[in-house]
Amino acid sequence: MVFTAPFSFTLPTTIEYGAGISRRLPEFCRRLEARRILVITDPGVSGLSWHAALMEDLRGQGMAVEIFDAVEPNPKDRNAAAAGDAARAFGAEVLVALGGGSPMDCAKVAAILARQGGRPRDYEDPSRIGPSPLPILAVPTTAGTGSEVTFGAVITDTAESFKFTVKSPRIAPRFALVDPVLTLSMPPALTAATGMDALTHAVEAYTSRAAEPISDALALHAAALIARRLPRVVEKGDDLEDRAAVLTGSLLAGIAFSHSDVGAVHCIAEALGGMYDIPHGVANAVCLPGVMRHCRDAAEERYARLGAAMGAGEGAEAAVAFVEGLARRVGLPDFRSFRIPEADFPLVADKSAANGSNRNNRPPLTAGDYRAILAALNG
Ligand SMILES: [Fe+2]
Repeated sequence: MVFTAPFSFTLPTTIEYGAGISRRLPEFCRRLEARRILVITDPGVSGLSWHAALMEDLRGQGMAVEIFDAVEPNPKDRNAAAAGDAARAFGAEVLVALGGGSPMDCAKVAAILARQGGRPRDYEDPSRIGPSPLPILAVPTTAGTGSEVTFGAVITDTAESFKFTVKSPRIAPRFALVDPVLTLSMPPALTAATGMDALTHAVEAYTSRAAEPISDALALHAAALIARRLPRVVEKGDDLEDRAAVLTGSLLAGIAFSHSDVGAVHCIAEALGGMYDIPHGVANAVCLPGVMRHCRDAAEERYARLGAAMGAGEGAEAAVAFVEGLARRVGLPDFRSFRIPEADFPLVADKSAANGSNRNNRPPLTAGDYRAILAALNG
């Protein structure tokens, strides 16, 4: 770390954290002076028992509520366009993004489309994002993507099977209501995949070439929380204190990577998500150990510090071995189970190397490096 290096740190989102905080949703809508509320979510969330109670809370306060629950995993351009149309038609004054990363990312782009029209990909160029997209109130239900505190949305261009990013502080949620009670309803496989995604954010933020002291502090603490508590919540999902610790880790890791960057794991996961629709958390989780092994020697000191934070023991290799063991322990699928044709590896590698976050990976990787990682994961 070079402590004379400049950095800047802005967090436009107000975080409201607490068990049961989501039941205060109407109060936060009022603070945004909104009475017409479009809830953007997915069918998995809108079918949960507490969802109806949240909607009743809003309606009971005299608010007009409409629900858009057609967001797909790896949110698609068509989802964002439809949500933007729904917001316009309804005259929404706030978007409540309720769910994991997919509804939250979808809402961020819908917030622009509702005000400005156009197509989702138009806003890959941040200079085209106007000064006032619709305000977003984010309520995460997984732990997680950290999307409740990031300024970015990753959307799949369905015509090109390619994931693009829309990024601006203007689409950061105004409020994040972070409620560990909501994460109690996650089944073990979703808990494992989203928790490993959060750990990936911590690892990649900490080892990124764009890391700075605040993101470092957040990432190390996040890695410690997630690594120690994730196996417990996967095995026994009803302990609120453990759930809260993992959600806190996910939140801190989200702030960390939005100020540092992600790296090679996300480069591969975004390529796999765009081409084969493999869910983001699962793709990251499965690729994390292989990427760490490949990058270990170039980021030795940082891996060693991460390992110490996670309780892995001394040295970079201990950190890599610990994450490999953690991935097995939480029951992730094997890379081979994705059944990706080996003939596609060069294209996956090229897309990974072309990802904007690759330049911040330590070290930046070539398409050849990515081919080697894919071959090792598949071996
Ligand atoms: Fe992620």
